[in-house]
Amino acid sequence: MDKKKQADEFIKDNKDKVNKCYRMKYHFMGQFGWINDPNGFNFYKGQYHLFYQHYPYDSVWGPMHWGHAKSKDLVKWEYLPIALAPDEEYDKDGCFSGTSIEERGELYLYYTGHKYLNSNKTEYEEVQCIAHSKNGIDFEKLKCNPIINENRQDFRDPKVIKHENFYYMFVGSNEDLKKGQILLYKSSDKFNFKFFSVALEGDGTLGDNFECPDYFKIQDKEVMIISPQFISNKDKYIDRINTPIYSLGNMDFDEGKFVCEEFHPVDCGFNFYAPQTMIDDKNRRILIGWMASWDSVDVTNKYKHLWSGAMTFPREVLLKNGKLLYKPIDEIKNYRKNTYEIKELIMSGEKTLDCVGDSYDTEIIIDSLNAENFGIKIRVSLEEETCFEFDKKTNCFIFNRDNSGIGPKGQKRLNLDLDNNILKLRILVDKCSVEVFINDGCFVMTGLIYPKKNSNRIKLFSDSPIKIIKFEKWDI
Ligand code: FRU
Repeated sequence: MDKKKQADEFIKDNKDKVNKCYRMKYHFMGQFGWINDPNGFNFYKGQYHLFYQHYPYDSVWGPMHWGHAKSKDLVKWEYLPIALAPDEEYDKDGCFSGTSIEERGELYLYYTGHKYLNSNKTEYEEVQCIAHSKNGIDFEKLKCNPIINENRQDFRDPKVIKHENFYYMFVGSNEDLKKGQILLYKSSDKFNFKFFSVALEGDGTLGDNFECPDYFKIQDKEVMIISPQFISNKDKYIDRINTPIYSLGNMDFDEGKFVCEEFHPVDCGFNFYAPQTMIDDKNRRILIGWMASWDSVDVTNKYKHLWSGAMTFPREVLLKNGKLLYKPIDEIKNYRKNTYEIKELIMSGEKTLDCVGDSYDTEIIIDSLNAENFGIKIRVSLEEETCFEFDKKTNCFIFNRDNSGIGPKGQKRLNLDLDNNILKLRILVDKCSVEVFINDGCFVMTGLIYPKKNSNRIKLFSDSPIKIIKFEKWDI
């Protein structure tokens, strides 16, 4: 049978078997099996389309398919048939990540064909490929595939854009596994691409291979996002071996060079990788990422829940004072219910709030006055809690998941200066995920937690009086 149909039928027959205990309410997940990177994220014929790396047969990574879903508001998704399956010689071990572009109402997918060259899978070849759809649902790989074949090993995740009269493809790669590179290819007809330049090259400290390039313009700036592998020179911000990073800069299309400024992490938490962005009909730049990474412990697979992987909640990307800011897309507000609110409260010590929840949205503004140590605990019970704390001695915001349940533990620290002693938080909680947007989205920390169902209380705490200017919570 056709490999796409086979996958669709398997999903249909098995999707009700997944253990729902950590299934999220408003984050995108696959129906069964494994998902990783977002792919081909686009706005097409009035709806958002999201493709994703998918192994539908088990909750572990395997020969990659492209799953596909669409949404009117980026919150509620409708699953569509599998878009790509590894069914050709050139992609027989996986249809890896890539992008989509729309031309005259039709969709084109650019993806990487992955093929092992030996039985222990240490050697492989990656090529760039194209698929086409007239209706945005049924995709056909084109006969001209592979469209780029240079007998390369790490050579993947094409990001294709149109600039003036040409198509440009950014591809993640490396120079002999010493330093990551973004290679640039150019085409006048979107099928025949020629090598143009090395658009960007790491210095070796930011990973030995670059994956999933994303390039876009925002106001008068240009941005390159990269997902590097094996960052050796970790620092206080870029502290996981696979931390997606971005640089503002300038893309010189004549020279084929992206002139970089400083790199910053896109997300400062535990679980985040391979983000992609798109622009919608409201001219919003929206980012979505895989809410895990290759260094994450995969809890739902470990406990045999038959599913693994989810996307972050979509984030609108804004540019302010030379840095990117992130904001959960406003559509979430349409799903808010059961408002719980505190205003102008002075407190110290610990205060358990008169509300509970495991899937909600909150907005919090705290004037810390003279407190040295204060914050909020969520998913609290007698045995468990997930803690967000500000420590003035070190000027650090700390996300601590040491007592968050059955998942991996640890803390992430973020150096942060408070403006007038004020800390602003927007926290999205959804069953096993937390995304914290700090000080109007200057930083985001994403983390997976696996607490018990009854760990659902919320506490505020401080070592001396603080003023809760507002605390608002809505169930989603
Ligand atoms: C990033 C990545 C990509 C690759 C895909 C395979 O997470 O490693 O480079 O295309 O995942 O699933």
